[in-house]
Amino acid sequence: MGHARQRPADSPGPALIPRLPRTGARRAATAGELASARIRPGSGPAGGQNGGVNQPSPAQPTPPRPIPSFSAPPAETFFEAVGGEETFRRLVARFYEGVATDPVLRPLYPEEDLGPAEERLRLFLIQYWGGPATYHEKRGHPRLRMRHVPFAIGPAERDAWITQMRAAVDSLELPAEQETTLWDYLVYAAHSMQNRA
Ligand code: HEM
Repeated sequence: MGHARQRPADSPGPALIPRLPRTGARRAATAGELASARIRPGSGPAGGQNGGVNQPSPAQPTPPRPIPSFSAPPAETFFEAVGGEETFRRLVARFYEGVATDPVLRPLYPEEDLGPAEERLRLFLIQYWGGPATYHEKRGHPRLRMRHVPFAIGPAERDAWITQMRAAVDSLELPAEQETTLWDYLVYAAHSMQNRA
């Protein structure tokens, strides 16, 4: 499989997934709203043909009737589509269960308690897929490649990470299309985190 995608592994959110406002309040104006807001001659402060005097004239044509609005519902993020926080909690918990007993990976993790590392990865993935930006609030910009520099990640470490993550992804039993989207990203990201030959 090629890994030719240009986007860094920690850039915010996949480009494929549009991030539209979730509430109706910030959505774009509908055709109907635009039509009813259209400025008609003579209605502006500088006036139109009747010198700025805003008097309805019987000669004016009937204003266009607003078109009924059919606004699209806000698009769902991948985070929401796969089941929200609960799904990422399960994924990362399962992954760290594997790390805890993995002879290649475990020695890399500096802390005895893997809980904080688990939380960091969970919050990062949640944010990456369009969920709350708690990772950013707590840790700032991900800069994942830079944060991995202290750890020697060669092919063996990379593949061990991928193997544990594969088991974790399998445990979610996601629909095939969602699983592929998630898995392709994780494999791509793991390759981009490798920092030793
Ligand atoms: C390729 C194999 C990889 C290895 C061996 C590895 C190993 C590590 C280690 C040892 C840490 C430090 C633990 C901590 O204190 O947080 C860490 C942190 C982290 N890793 Fe990885 N990692 C790998 C790939 C990835 C990938 C592919 C991602 C994202 C998709 C990722 C996301 C993170 C995050 C978010 C942190 C915490 C960063 C922070 O300090 O805020 N890692 N990783």
